[in-house]
Amino acid sequence: MDRKDIHSYAGDAVITHLDLDLDVNFENRVLKGSATYKIDPKNSDHLILDLNGPQILSVEVDDNPVQFKLSGQDPILGIALTIPIHADSKSIKINYQTKPDASALQWLNPSQTSGNKHPFLFSQGQAILTRTWIPIQDSPGIRITYEATLRVPKDLMAVMSASNTQTKNPDGVYHFNMPQAVPAYLIAMAVGNLNFKSTGPRSGVYAEPNMLEKAAWEFADTENMIAAAEKLYGPYAWDRYDLLILPPSFPFGGMENPRLTFATPTVIAGDRSLVSLVAHELAHSWSGNLVTNANWNDFWINEGFTTYFERRIMENLYGREYTEMLASLAKEELKQNVQEIGPDHKDTHLHLDLLGRNPDDGMTSIAYEKGAFFLRMLEEKIGRPQFDEFLKTYFNRHAFQTMDVEKLVSYMKANLPIDSLKIDLDAWIYKPGIPENISGVNSDRFEKVVKAYKFMESDQRWDTLMTSGWSSHEWVHFIAQIPDSVKPEQLRKMDEAFHFSTSGNAEILDTWFEKAIVGGYSTEILTKIEAFLIQVGRRKYLVPLYKAFKITGQIETARKIYAQARPNYHFVATSTIDQLLKE
Ligand code: BES
Ligand code: ZN
Repeated sequence: MDRKDIHSYAGDAVITHLDLDLDVNFENRVLKGSATYKIDPKNSDHLILDLNGPQILSVEVDDNPVQFKLSGQDPILGIALTIPIHADSKSIKINYQTKPDASALQWLNPSQTSGNKHPFLFSQGQAILTRTWIPIQDSPGIRITYEATLRVPKDLMAVMSASNTQTKNPDGVYHFNMPQAVPAYLIAMAVGNLNFKSTGPRSGVYAEPNMLEKAAWEFADTENMIAAAEKLYGPYAWDRYDLLILPPSFPFGGMENPRLTFATPTVIAGDRSLVSLVAHELAHSWSGNLVTNANWNDFWINEGFTTYFERRIMENLYGREYTEMLASLAKEELKQNVQEIGPDHKDTHLHLDLLGRNPDDGMTSIAYEKGAFFLRMLEEKIGRPQFDEFLKTYFNRHAFQTMDVEKLVSYMKANLPIDSLKIDLDAWIYKPGIPENISGVNSDRFEKVVKAYKFMESDQRWDTLMTSGWSSHEWVHFIAQIPDSVKPEQLRKMDEAFHFSTSGNAEILDTWFEKAIVGGYSTEILTKIEAFLIQVGRRKYLVPLYKAFKITGQIETARKIYAQARPNYHFVATSTIDQLLKE
């Protein structure tokens, strides 16, 4: 066995370039066409691709038909597609078509879009779903350049994580080119009734026409973020940075597809309060997309570095005080998550062992927040100027390469005063729980929130609170103060005073709805919770609400709502919620 990544069948022989040519058929929910690869045989007599779903119609090597082999059916990984090659083989062409239920793809009816008139399609590749729509070496350690042609209905526009046009092509044929090598999980596409609006010299948004103006307003700071990021850690390597606003069923907040971040419409709060998501996905242009985790056991090298970098961008644009609120919420989430997983559990290590498991299991706040607080600890011990210089060089030296934990630790030891400062890397990387030298977070603004909450509790007067000028983060922190033992009538009073149930901010809604379910107030606002769960497919919002129903003995309510909502969710969300609500 010559596999290098426990989540891919790929061996020594590798693909180096992909040329996709696909018809997008909304009637059958099928992509049909060909994938042509340039290859580097590396002296191997076979090349293995990952495959999970697509039907292979024929395979050619250098224009000659060959017999291929399918083997190793695995519920998580799919199967290995083995193609015979020679040491001097140059290319492979595969004719194939996808299945209507391909996990990466979500095919939406017009009614599931904002405009209600046109269907929509998008893909989500990370972690190992690209193989459900392209036969490919689906390992973050294997990079390829790619080009693509997509043929779509004439009234729709196609976009990809590549060069994009800014206007619709009347013939419905779109060509893409991605000259920078990327791992398979970053290949993404979307098709819908999209328009484009510029937000800066190298940035803009793609969205359905009725959301375009609002989206462009919300993300007006994008160029400032790119400039701040470049000042910190070096030039932006991907030419343009655009955002694509997806329908609300998108299962994530954002996905860092190169040149074109995919984003949930729930970040468009109308007050720019949730733009840290853009800072995050933009930061991945360095941590993740330039320097890529070699395999999913080191997912934290993507997400922890990115979350640290995200806060640095936020601090640069909006100041320390503002960003400390975000860090404070994050630290609370980390503590809670560690409690849930278990403070001695292996899954609270930064470096994970996901052998035989779905890499999705590693998507907890450990990777994000323990990872980010690890870097923050290093910054504070070493000093910001020196640590920034270290990171800048790190991104530059390892650009378009992979990083795993051993390589990282030895690079850190060689370039930072780890030993002389007696920094215990192992405690952070290979041990459970939260190390005791985690940084303190000081948020004066949150201290005021806690005071206000206490005052409200003792005084029982809701109308005299000094809440003017509060951001949504302060409100989220306020709601988080409410103890689970709260009485329904108190929640009702708060709702009357502050209108949480009708907030336009998804973070406030989600935090509030969870409290309402736990505090026995949810029956009064059930239609609102239901509407939220049916509309929004972002897994991070769904899980706490379904869980809250479950732990308060209301699993039947949860199942009833889920039965209605499930058709709106992407596979990523249904696979989690199915599990949560099963017998
Ligand atoms: N790369 C992730 C999304 C992801 C992780 C998809 C693992 C599939 C598997 C993305 O950058 C991300 O972290 N998104 C966050 C938002 C962010 C602001 C923390 C999300 O979707 O919640
Ligand atoms: Zn991320």
